Amino acid sequence: MRIILDDEFGESNFRSEIIWAYKRWSNAKKGLLSGHQTIFFYSKTDNFKFNTMYTEYSPTTNVDQILQERVRNSAGKASYKYDKKGDIVIAKEKKGVPLSDVWEIPFLNPKARERTGYPTQKPVELLEKIIKISTDEGDSVFDPFCGSGTTLVAAKILNRRFTGVDKNSSAVELCNRRLEAPVKSVSRLLQVGANAYKTKTDEELAILHMLGCDVVQRNKGIDGFLRKFYLNAPVAVKIQKPYESFFEAVDLLDNAGKRKKCSFTVLIRTSEGLVDSETPIPPNMVVLNELNFQLNSSLLKVSDNYRMKFMQG
Ligand SMILES: C[S@@+](CC[C@H](N)C(=O)[O-])C[C@H]1O[C@@H](n2cnc3c(N)ncnc32)[C@H](O)[C@@H]1O
Repeated sequence: MRIILDDEFGESNFRSEIIWAYKRWSNAKKGLLSGHQTIFFYSKTDNFKFNTMYTEYSPTTNVDQILQERVRNSAGKASYKYDKKGDIVIAKEKKGVPLSDVWEIPFLNPKARERTGYPTQKPVELLEKIIKISTDEGDSVFDPFCGSGTTLVAAKILNRRFTGVDKNSSAVELCNRRLEAPVKSVSRLLQVGANAYKTKTDEELAILHMLGCDVVQRNKGIDGFLRKFYLNAPVAVKIQKPYESFFEAVDLLDNAGKRKKCSFTVLIRTSEGLVDSETPIPPNMVVLNELNFQLNSSLLKVSDNYRMKFMQG
């Protein structure tokens, strides 16, 4: 494709290779799971429209990198600039980091409102980005292989003029229907970022990793699954939360484990519950005391014995 496009537009009009990356679920096969598609960006001439978009700084960027002016020496090495008094020099106002050629946009999920059932349908979010960087409101957008019409829907939402072509008449009908009421599903993942889905504390993650678990987010009953099956079925792991009594934790894990058809469940107990002695522990549940909890209760016991001996002695 790249060779054909180089012939068509001229090599010097190649602008970028954009990687559209997404997470995908698939059964493991030999080799790497494919998680991206490639978009070739060409212009007709050197004189092309380009609207730079900006993204947020990476979490590793420090305040100096954002604020301070930098200079390069003759060897091209960058360092911070200081004025004659030795004070730092504040750089010009920045808008963020210019958009790179790697775009993380979730694949349309099976329940997305914008999904039409067209096999090669792309997310509106992806086409919007392409249209935004290369056109302004009122400009014309042309998609000669428009399929379910995602480009046209994105162009309409962004107030561009649009034309689509497809040799498949049912695709054209679908486009017309879609354009009557354009729908764009807003990805929660994109809005809040993947980190918002992470609900575990560092301590909980350490325990789950120590046990060799896959971590489960956003589930009250299960915090992870052992990677190894027992009796050909999954084993669910839960860590008792500070706001849960031991009985509540047992109950939540037992119910969740039944729903997920687990052979066993493992509860990590982190505190004394109020009704411990009355809590019936299901026969397929293993209860382990979390190390800190174990240490505290052991120290208490040891110190009781020690105090008695000490006082006797
Ligand atoms: C990958 S799909 C486009 C999917 C689209 N981006 C979407 O989001 O739905 C490619 C489309 O090109 C159309 N097509 C293939 N060869 C064509 C041709 N020679 N002329 C017009 N359309 C063609 C196919 O019918 C198909 O709908």
